[in-house]
Amino acid sequence: MVCFCGKLMLPTGFLESCVEVEGNEIRSIAKRMEGCEEVDLILPGMVDLHVHMRGMGQRHKGDWSSESLAALSGGVTVVADMPNNVPRIDNPEALRMKLEEASRESFVDFLLYTAYPYVSEMSWAIGVKVYPEDMRNDLRDVLRKASQLGKEVVVHAEDPIVLMEAESVDDLRDHPLARPELAEELAVARAISLAMRYGSKLRIAHATLPSTLAAVREARAKGLHVRAEVALHHLLFSSEDADRLGSLFKVNPPIRGPNIRRELLKMVEFGYADFLVTDHAPHSPEEKSKSYAEMPPGIPWLDALTPFLVQCIEEGSLPYRVLLMYSLEPASHLGLRRGSLIPGNLADLVILRREIWVPRPEHLSTRAKASPILGRELRWKVDRVFLRGEMAFQEHPIVSAGFGKPAKLSEVHQ
Ligand code: DOR
Repeated sequence: MVCFCGKLMLPTGFLESCVEVEGNEIRSIAKRMEGCEEVDLILPGMVDLHVHMRGMGQRHKGDWSSESLAALSGGVTVVADMPNNVPRIDNPEALRMKLEEASRESFVDFLLYTAYPYVSEMSWAIGVKVYPEDMRNDLRDVLRKASQLGKEVVVHAEDPIVLMEAESVDDLRDHPLARPELAEELAVARAISLAMRYGSKLRIAHATLPSTLAAVREARAKGLHVRAEVALHHLLFSSEDADRLGSLFKVNPPIRGPNIRRELLKMVEFGYADFLVTDHAPHSPEEKSKSYAEMPPGIPWLDALTPFLVQCIEEGSLPYRVLLMYSLEPASHLGLRRGSLIPGNLADLVILRREIWVPRPEHLSTRAKASPILGRELRWKVDRVFLRGEMAFQEHPIVSAGFGKPAKLSEVHQ
């Protein structure tokens, strides 16, 4: 049995308290307990619904071992991995290969998505992902099938025809012009209208526009099971950060103008978005150093993530609510007994200590060796991470690659 006292991340805010762990579960939470270790801050393990761990034919960008270590060391204990691999996860054989690779190499627990048009009934395949290029097709069958199997349809909502007709640009700073807002508006309207017809569970991935969050809210008011994610970079950065971010500014959907960012953040504060995600998308340093036209889009995020998030909250650049949108909310969405410090939940704990440090490339586990956090002075550091009651990380991983398992879908409340 272990117990810690310190500030606990609870649904209402940080509160001085103690947490006791027995076996793989949280046994109790109490204001005071005798004989516990004093620590600075205790969070539940975070749950990221949208990451790209790579592997398979893209190991030069990252693999389950490198990227899940970035997650673990950043305090993220469950990840849901996107299916745009090489090969695409659009058939049972590719899904099986990916499950094997993740089971062999992952440091954290995981769930997988399949790629359009394949919807799998497997318990660890939580939903089907629809990418902009898939939106050239008739989506009715996929929505119908997902609805029958109780799986979620996750849409990267950018209309491919609008993207095709957009201005062609050759300067990184103009990336938002190449992905107009209209592309998101049209794709969101279409996805919601189809979900309404088939009663599907729909999630709009990385919403960038206030109007997207409003549309999702309106659909919910009509009784639809529609949810919206927001990505960290769309809340924190705008087109004014293009020079500072360099090649990380190229991400899809794009980082938009400062007014949109401000409004999006305000809507998040008012509770319009359901989940925070990183959309962690590593590419090799060589790939990201190519010209604007040739470099792939994506931002890696997972390393040092919880220290960074807590700091953003302390500085007032993000509301406290985002921590819940990255733990409690996604865990309960997936029906997992995780993501909050309550008795009976699996003991995924992240202990942070106060320490001033500056992340350098050698501190990062991601193979991308890049992050928007690099070079920023951080005031918190991950001290230890417990996964299912076991100490999994302390400065270095304590467990081996392969410790991560498919997050238990027997726990899902469907
Ligand atoms: O910027 C992005 N990168 N957007 C996506 O939709 C895919 C992702 C990736 O896989 O690199």
